[in-house]
Amino acid sequence: MTNHKLRRSVLFMPGDSMRKIQKATQLDADTIVMDLEDGVALNNKAAARETIVEALRTLDFGRRERLVRVNPPASGFLDDDIAVTAPSQPDGFVIPKTETAADVQTVSRKLAAVEREHGWAENSLRLVAVVETALGVMNLKEIAQSDARLDALMFGAEDLAGDIGAVRTRAGWEVFFARSAVVTAAAAYGLQAIDMIFVDFQNLDGLAEECRTARQMGYAGKMAIHPKQVEIINREFSPTPAEIERAQKLVAAHRAHQQSGTGAFAFEGKMVDMPVIRAAEHVLARARQAGLIQ
Ligand code: COA
Ligand code: MG
Repeated sequence: MTNHKLRRSVLFMPGDSMRKIQKATQLDADTIVMDLEDGVALNNKAAARETIVEALRTLDFGRRERLVRVNPPASGFLDDDIAVTAPSQPDGFVIPKTETAADVQTVSRKLAAVEREHGWAENSLRLVAVVETALGVMNLKEIAQSDARLDALMFGAEDLAGDIGAVRTRAGWEVFFARSAVVTAAAAYGLQAIDMIFVDFQNLDGLAEECRTARQMGYAGKMAIHPKQVEIINREFSPTPAEIERAQKLVAAHRAHQQSGTGAFAFEGKMVDMPVIRAAEHVLARARQAGLIQ
C-alpha cells in the first residue's frame, strides 16, 4: 500500500461562504475543499475566489489539508481560479469532471508556473481528480497515470448519473460499475480513492452504512457536504480495535508459520495465505496513519 495522506473525511463547502469555511476549521475533517465549481453560482465565482484567498491568508486550518476545487478546464473560469487562489498557497486543487489525462496536465502545467514564480518546491501543489462522467470512467487508466502531482481519485455519483441518464437510488447499483472502476484504477496506479457524497445529510445511519460499503470496496475516505457527516466518516474509515487486534494476530501467526516453513495455515477455522496477510497489513497501515497504533 502506497503511503498516502490521511483523507478519511473530505469536507466540501461553497467557496463564497466564509462562515462555512470558518466552521470547517473547527471540525475534525481531514481535508477541507473550498469550492469554486458547482457549489458557487455563476455570478459569484469572482467573489468566491476572493473569499478563499482571505480564508487561506487569515484562518488557522490546523492539521487539516486545504484544497480548492476549481472549475473544469473547458469552463473558461479555470485560469482565473488558479491565478487568484494559488498564490495563497493551498495544499492543492481538486479538478472536477476529469475526462482525459490532458485535463489533469493542463492544470498541472499552470501550477508548475506558479511554483516557479514563487520559488516553491516542484510538484508541491497537489492534485485530486474527480471522475464523474461516462468519458472519465472510460479513460480512468490514462487519468490515473497522467501526472506526478495526482494523489487521489474521487468518485462523483450525482454527476455521473446525470451524464448516463441513470436514476440515483439508495442501493446505488446504477453507479456501481463506475464506483468499482474508480477504486480499482486508483489501486492499480498507486492513488488514493475517495468515495461519493451522501446527499441525505439528515440520515446518519444511511451514511454510516454507505461508508462501510465504500470501505469494503477499498475506498480510503468519503466526501462530506455537512458538518454532521464528518465524525461518522472518520469513524467508519478508521479500523476498529477488534480489526486491529485481529490483523496483528494474523501477521504474527504468519511470521511464525513462515519461520517454520509453512505458507498457508488455518486461523480461526479459515484458510490464511498471502492475500489475507496483505489485507491485514493494509488494516495496520491505515491504523498507523490514523494514529491508532505506532
Ligand atoms: N461546511 C461547513 N459548514 C457547514 C457546511 C459545510 N459543508 N454545511 C453547513 N454548515 C454549517 C452551517 O453554516 C450551519 O452553521 P451556522 O448555523 O453556524 O451558520 C451549520 O453547519 C448547520 O447547517 P444546516 O443549517 O444544517 O445546513 P444549511 O441549510 O445551512 O446548509 C447545505 C445545507 C446543503 C446548503 C450545506 O450543508 C452546504 O452548503 N453543503 C455543501 C454544499 C457544497 O459544497 N456542494 C458542492 C460540493 S458537492
Ligand atoms: Mg460534481
